[in-house]
Amino acid sequence: MKIILAAPRGFCAGVHMAIDSLALTLQKFGPPVYVYHEIVHNQHVVNEFQGKGAVFVNSIDEVPMGSVLMFSAHGVSPEIRQAAKERELFAIDATCPLVTKVHLEAIKYAKAGYTIILIGHEGHDEVLGTMGEAPEAIVLVEDEAGVDALEFPAGTRLAYLTQTTLSVDDANRVISRLRSRFPEIESPPKDDICYATQNRQEAVRKLSDEADVVVVLGSQNSSNSQRLRELAAEKGQRAYLVDGPQDLSEELFNADDTVLITAGASAPESVVQSAIDWLQATFNASVEPREVRKEDVRFPLPKPLRAYAKEVN
Ligand code: F3S
Repeated sequence: MKIILAAPRGFCAGVHMAIDSLALTLQKFGPPVYVYHEIVHNQHVVNEFQGKGAVFVNSIDEVPMGSVLMFSAHGVSPEIRQAAKERELFAIDATCPLVTKVHLEAIKYAKAGYTIILIGHEGHDEVLGTMGEAPEAIVLVEDEAGVDALEFPAGTRLAYLTQTTLSVDDANRVISRLRSRFPEIESPPKDDICYATQNRQEAVRKLSDEADVVVVLGSQNSSNSQRLRELAAEKGQRAYLVDGPQDLSEELFNADDTVLITAGASAPESVVQSAIDWLQATFNASVEPREVRKEDVRFPLPKPLRAYAKEVN
């Protein structure tokens, strides 16, 4: 067996920032630190922080008055910020700046009187946050059929935005259907699908032809990880999305397979290494690292943590 180890893979700049923020907040304020939604969509990361005293909540009502609260990397709506204020919570915002960028675009278009078509997955934390910026002005579509069902009064000015973690190919199909139905539609000034999503998909697109099977490390609720698995499956490969080696079994592989390994943007490198260790122990696999693009993006910590980070580092 041969393993092709794809790069870029795993943690993106937004996930690094969010995880560092939560670790520092726990260190500075002590447990419990409440977090609105999972800090990132990864079971290992969430379990580890739970062990250190982070409490993940789905409603601000669950947070005791005056507590420390963190907003996760996926962002929140203004309604949630307001609820946190009313509860006198000390809120620290670990929203990824590339999600904030989409929020700001939504606010800008809504203020200018546009109706915004948001391409994204219903119920995803990021979509809920973005839609909350201008609920009366945003319509969600998930696919081309959703575009076909859209109807607007004549003269409606339209713009579209996208979730940051979509499949580039799927989004392009939806966008071209939007453009053919509404030729005047405005597009965001810069791509909303983030650099990390695009780079991880590019690596799978370029490398999966050389593989018999693709293993994506990531959790089932991680949108960008799901898109990596789908991309490999669409290219005809056997493709598995797994949280770690505990989800792998000998029956999934042949001894002479070439296995492409990648990881979603919220999956820690330690689980990638554990999966490699398992394949090496089980099939005596060799490893060939392949980097299709360099990544050196870093995002600053939230303001309330910067001075403390300097102090402890
Ligand atoms: Fe941000 Fe993209 Fe990561 S939106 S959190 S850099 S997957």
